[in-house]
Amino acid sequence: MKKGRTKGRERWGTQLGIVLAMSANAVGLGNFLRFPVQVADNGGGAFMIPYFVAFVLLGIPLMWTEWGIGRFGGRYGHGTTPGMFHYLWKHPLAKYLGAIGIVIPFALVLYYTYIVSWTLAYSVFSFTGAYLGIENYQGMVDFLSAYQGKVSNQYFSGIGSAYLFYLITLGLVIWILSRGISKGIEMLAKIAIPLIILFGVVLVIRVCTLGTPDPAYPERNVLNGFGFIWNPDLSILSQSKVWLAATGQIFFTLSVGFGAIQTYASYLSEKDDVVLSGLATSSTNGFAEVCLGGAIAIPVTVAFFGLAQTQEIAASGAFDLGFFAMPIIMQQLPLGQLFGTLWFFLLFLAGITSSVAMAQPLMAFLQEEFKLKRKTAALIIGVVILILTQPVIFFLKYGFLNEMDFWIGTLGLVVFAIIEVVLFFWVFGADNAFKEIMAGADIKLPRVFYYIMKYVTPIYLIILLGFWFFQDGIDVLLMKGVPAENYAYIWFARFLLGLILVVMLISVRIAWQRKHVIRKRVP
Ligand code: PHE
Repeated sequence: MKKGRTKGRERWGTQLGIVLAMSANAVGLGNFLRFPVQVADNGGGAFMIPYFVAFVLLGIPLMWTEWGIGRFGGRYGHGTTPGMFHYLWKHPLAKYLGAIGIVIPFALVLYYTYIVSWTLAYSVFSFTGAYLGIENYQGMVDFLSAYQGKVSNQYFSGIGSAYLFYLITLGLVIWILSRGISKGIEMLAKIAIPLIILFGVVLVIRVCTLGTPDPAYPERNVLNGFGFIWNPDLSILSQSKVWLAATGQIFFTLSVGFGAIQTYASYLSEKDDVVLSGLATSSTNGFAEVCLGGAIAIPVTVAFFGLAQTQEIAASGAFDLGFFAMPIIMQQLPLGQLFGTLWFFLLFLAGITSSVAMAQPLMAFLQEEFKLKRKTAALIIGVVILILTQPVIFFLKYGFLNEMDFWIGTLGLVVFAIIEVVLFFWVFGADNAFKEIMAGADIKLPRVFYYIMKYVTPIYLIILLGFWFFQDGIDVLLMKGVPAENYAYIWFARFLLGLILVVMLISVRIAWQRKHVIRKRVP
């Protein structure tokens, strides 16, 4: 064994387990809630062209890059990007850049897990019939708003049940983390992925057999719903908004640009393949997104509400198709309660496996850089998440969650992706990087990807960031269109994110200083 390389890290159990765990990481609310809304909001079939372009030129290359960086770091005993970057770039700054790869997934877990807990609640509500009888859109909006504690009405008079479902969800996440890589995360994935596919297929079959639910509106049918996604409209390709949305979706759904894939990949062993497994993961995620996620919420909403209204619903918010339209539609189907339960439980399974993936980088950091025991690390993380999620829960109506999502889910991941691609392909060196990815590969990576990863991916990302900045970025930064009473909360969200970043930077510094001391002491 070479110097500095560690044995005794946790490992994935089997090759299949690796792909399942990585797929469980990637398949999440993004596939089933975010994707349909993005498609409907960005011209349907038109969206799919930039979507596939981004998949090939950014998604897959970044997936391989992150698997490569992760396995490389794991060899040196590092499951997080501070340590990984430290070995890619022998510069004192490298580890601090890497801190972003823990901050991003950690900040994401703070609000993502809260949303996941709503899906658990809704699967219970579907089962018990709690929202039965609410037959119009506004009714469902009122139901969710009351559940979230934004208003008080006949459905809920406080945030108690939302809080309870959140505690259950967070408790599960922490429990899985505390069981470790193969006994916790891999086990969960082996159960969750088959169930997600099974429930997804059942729902898709149900949707496909809907026909025209209301003969009074012959154009409201499932076929038109599918046509909406699959009829490409080339004219929209000149709009940068659609390109930005499609690229953002690729990042979010594949979990690339976050730091989470690298951590999972660090538990590979040196001989494990990266190329085929990375591709298999991306394909599984793509299947779950396009064939399942795209074949449920959109066609069903078109069939019941018509095309124009579907677009309207999608434009009004990220959860509107999933939380408002779906429960209304489900009630109109025979066995609707069962299908509603399946839909929300599918969301829950997809979501919780992603939550776990977001928290694992911090787990790895505490275990490896601060030598904490697994259970202790999990407990600390649980308490910190619980505390930091309070403003997300209680300031929801002031746009706190959306503000966090903007910094993390829109800006942060593109910036981080640029950093890692440049470090890997330009600082560490494209030849080294390509060799690193190819090591142990089960299939040969076509040479063209060498050039894509070295040139196209970083340039594409930088152009994208520039476009985005001038089109939306400035407005968001200056809080254009934000009601004045929300300013304080928006600033609080920014402050909290800044604080998390500073604490992480200091932790990295302390960890490295300790290492230095430990190394000096060894004769
Ligand atoms: N890819 C997940 C989804 O589609 C989100 C995610 C992001 C998961 C980052 C892990 C890390 O919902």
